[in-house]
Amino acid sequence: MSNMISISNLNKTYKNGSVEVHALKDVSLEITHGEFIAIMGHSGSGKSTFMNILGCLDRPSSGEYLLEGINIKDQTQDELSFIRNKKIGFVFQAFNLIPRTSVLKNVELPMVYAKTKASYRKKRAMELLEKVGLAERVNHLPNELSGGQKQRVAIARALSNNPPIILADEPTGNLDTQASEEIMGIFKTLNKEGSSVILVTHEPDIAEFANRIIVFRDGCIIEDRKKEAVR
Ligand SMILES: Nc1ncnc2c1ncn2[C@@H]1O[C@H](COP(=O)(O)OP(=O)(O)OP(=O)(O)O)[C@@H](O)[C@H]1O
Ligand SMILES: [Mg+2]
Repeated sequence: MSNMISISNLNKTYKNGSVEVHALKDVSLEITHGEFIAIMGHSGSGKSTFMNILGCLDRPSSGEYLLEGINIKDQTQDELSFIRNKKIGFVFQAFNLIPRTSVLKNVELPMVYAKTKASYRKKRAMELLEKVGLAERVNHLPNELSGGQKQRVAIARALSNNPPIILADEPTGNLDTQASEEIMGIFKTLNKEGSSVILVTHEPDIAEFANRIIVFRDGCIIEDRKKEAVR
């Protein structure tokens, strides 16, 4: 079976006027289905830049990115949107829920884009909200929820089209210890059920859940090690 993600000599340069920031430098790596990866590194080391490219939210300046054998460089914007919608569930530090829209509708949204039938959409959203322990909150608005609850909604939304890959950029960054543990428990379960999980964290306690740790420094991978998950 081919690798889920195959990246070679990836570079990302941001240009703001005359200032250039070389945010990723010749990054190469392979990721297979079913991995649980924690990405670590100091602020500004390129973690979010890398995640945004993995999630097809941004394009590399040079280098190659194959996602399940598809060369991302050759894809049109529409094709990239389709890939994002079907293959990737993205979870952000700031939750990024739609305000003034119910929890249920937030979870249904990626399925609306995927043109899923309305009756199935609702059923699936309910099931996912039950799975993340929020069955009693489906008609609430995001601002009526705690941070941990918001992140659970975001996870349910990320799962709605059943993507093989879950990307999470500091998903516990705005949460207290208990809510963080609960969110990590959900990611762990999803990984056991077959999802590949790639998350960014600054916290060693959170990285303990992963089977592989990748450390960035100054746009380069300086450490990449597989390990037993200790949690
Ligand atoms: N849109 C942008 N335009 C210009 N420079 C950017 C942009 N996004 C990121 N950078 C720069 O690229 C470098 C890497 O940023 P990135 O956001 O990937 O870091 P990070 O590892 O996620 O940091 P943090 O832990 O603080 O989230 C930084 O020097 C940053 O200032
Ligand atoms: Mg970041």
